Amino acid sequence: MDDELLDDASLERLQKEMLEEARKIYSEKVIDHWLNPRNVGRIEEPQGRGAATGICGDNMEMTLRINNDRILDINFLTEGCGTTAAVGSMTTELAKGKTVQEALEISPEDVIAAVEGLPPEHRHCADLASTTLKEALKDYLANKQEPWKRAYKR
Ligand code: FES
Repeated sequence: MDDELLDDASLERLQKEMLEEARKIYSEKVIDHWLNPRNVGRIEEPQGRGAATGICGDNMEMTLRINNDRILDINFLTEGCGTTAAVGSMTTELAKGKTVQEALEISPEDVIAAVEGLPPEHRHCADLASTTLKEALKDYLANKQEPWKRAYKR
């Protein structure tokens, strides 16, 4: 029992130290989206799906639910690091509610601004999120033009 309490206390102290270290490098926005990522998951039978791989090998996937060319819902998945998860989360928040055309214009710089900055070595995480979104939107546009192709993608 004492061991368990000690373990809990050690874990809490470790988490606190990690957060203090992270705050020296990352904005509160990044930490918030890292700890509480929004829109995580995969939409079943999406109208658009995109996947991309970053220069570091991290992967991301986004799936879209769209009505009248407006993004009603968007999910993302990644096996990447905390920064990748944070920018994936923020990108879905930026895209939700926008038209397809507006969402296509979301740039890596927009994502970086929305999370209030990223350290230089993690700016490519925003490239990955923005590219994944564009891939999902392009898939939606291709499906819209040739809906019969969707049947063969599943
Ligand atoms: Fe490479 Fe985030 S995408 S570390």
